[in-house]
Amino acid sequence: MAKDIFYNRIHAKQLLFRKCFSILLEVCVIEVRLATLNDSESLFMLNKLFGNATTIEDLKNSLSKNKRELVCIAFVDGVAAGYACGLIIKSMCYSKCRADIEALFVREEYREKGMGKALLACLEKELERLGINHFHIITHEENNAAKALYTRLGYIADSEFLLEKTTKTP
Ligand SMILES: CC(C)(COP(=O)(O)OP(=O)(O)OC[C@H]1O[C@@H](n2cnc3c(N)ncnc32)[C@H](O)[C@@H]1OP(=O)(O)O)[C@@H](O)C(=O)NCCC(=O)NCCS
Repeated sequence: MAKDIFYNRIHAKQLLFRKCFSILLEVCVIEVRLATLNDSESLFMLNKLFGNATTIEDLKNSLSKNKRELVCIAFVDGVAAGYACGLIIKSMCYSKCRADIEALFVREEYREKGMGKALLACLEKELERLGINHFHIITHEENNAAKALYTRLGYIADSEFLLEKTTKTP
């Protein structure tokens, strides 16, 4: 089984050899690229599988209007397999923007084939094209798969921790 998928550029298509039923070698076409409004249905399905709640209208609205959000999507033989979403953060406190990685998700059947790495690498590359080279990610301490992936891509854990609060009225 090939371990890595090497991301080249947007619309780049790659071949991944993977072992099928331990006997046959199957060739899959992998596409990892920036998502567009046309990917809304696929992103809605993936986002729901990840456990996030939104409506298709809100998702489409965000994709078309939120210029601070970048989304990459991965397809295997035309089937949506995963996505990564980054949000550009700009404040008066710093002269440079950073990006928060809001979501990274690969459907179970496509995991451990390099898809997560390819998605995050795609997102980083697109953000770098906008001059952003500092990325934040929050993950659960016990999420070994995510931690392995982030470490592999050069992310370093720090001692900060997340505090959350939801108020009753918006
Ligand atoms: C985390 C997630 C995106 C990883 O996607 P993936 O496509 O399986 O990851 P990759 O195949 O690109 O693997 C990247 C690296 O992590 C390692 N890895 C992946 N899954 C692992 C696991 N379960 N345990 C240990 N290491 C793991 C791989 O071996 C690889 O390391 P290598 O390059 O040294 O071989 C996927 O498991 C997922 O969608 N999980 C549910 C959603 C989630 O937790 N997202 C992160 C939220 S912050």
